[in-house]
Amino acid sequence: MLDARGPGQETAAQAAAQAARLLRAGGVVAFPTETVYGLGADAGNAQAVAQVYASKGRPAFNPLISHVPDSAAAERLGVFSPAAQALAAAFWPGPLTLVVPYHDTGAVCDLARAGLPTIALRVPAHETTLAMLRAAGVPVVGPSANLSGHVSPTDAAHVRADLDGRIDAILDAGPTTVGVESTIVDCTGAHPALLRPGGLSRGAIAAVLGVALPDAGHDDAERPAAPGRLASHYAPHAPVRLDAREVKAGEALLTFAGARPPGAEAAVAIFDLSPSGDLVEAAARLYGALRHLDGLRPEGIAVVPLPRDGLGEAIADRLGRAAAPRPLSFEDD
Ligand code: TXA
Ligand code: MG
Repeated sequence: MLDARGPGQETAAQAAAQAARLLRAGGVVAFPTETVYGLGADAGNAQAVAQVYASKGRPAFNPLISHVPDSAAAERLGVFSPAAQALAAAFWPGPLTLVVPYHDTGAVCDLARAGLPTIALRVPAHETTLAMLRAAGVPVVGPSANLSGHVSPTDAAHVRADLDGRIDAILDAGPTTVGVESTIVDCTGAHPALLRPGGLSRGAIAAVLGVALPDAGHDDAERPAAPGRLASHYAPHAPVRLDAREVKAGEALLTFAGARPPGAEAAVAIFDLSPSGDLVEAAARLYGALRHLDGLRPEGIAVVPLPRDGLGEAIADRLGRAAAPRPLSFEDD
């Protein structure tokens, strides 16, 4: 526990600096925001991001929000339309998350974005956490810091109850003030649209835009509905064959823990997600592995049976989507 509530500014500053050091070293640190506590990791470190999913016990890889200390840092990561700039200027720091096209700088790994070409960005209104973000100097992912299926934590005690022993530290700054998650606005299309209601009202956003803020996902000419979103999600060109017990002619092999099914010796290429059988390492390398094998243009990608415990379930979920594309739906957890 890093206590940011002690007397004076110094305690909070020291706790924030220590949290930033842990994040830079690849640690997983829960941090306060004005909405709910987030579970932080360096967004560019796929191994650390995989550990965030593992700590939450999430059965799927939701795209995560990247937290940054100011609009300038956000604009280095995403493409801001005039409307997105207006919303950032009006409401950041604050309980607003903007989804914008991603500038591929490598600062946010594929796993953190669940392979999407877009990125969710937020500047939280919390002095201690802004100090942590400035000191870290990297974008920090932050899903709510609860076990999957539990309610979002609004106090460090809730985080401890769910995640004690599963994460490296909790930056404790007492209870949050807003208590519900940030409002998420999609700024990737011609007109902003509401993806998730939250701590900032639709009316306040519409007032800044000067037009109404519709729900996202409406099937209109400007905004393709489910199929468009599906196409934007990274899916390999090659067909993906799950639970493969053998490798067929022309296929590449995606394997785990050294497994070599019959036919492996003739595979176009072999990528072992984790020779040592570590599911966190496998999750961290999953998107890179799919991109690499797909880039070789094999006739198919055969995937060995994977364990279903721990992150195995999320890996299987992602591979299942790659194998049989279906409309995306992200659940809050
Ligand atoms: O208030 C909050 O937003 C908190 C604090 C910690 O910042 N965080 C939070 O994160 O609620 P999480 O992971 O529980 O919710 C993030 C939501 C998910 O519904 C996810 O699908 C959506 O953001 N999201 C993230 N990236 C996206 C993207 N590129 N496109 C569409 N939705 C995205
Ligand atoms: Mg959540």
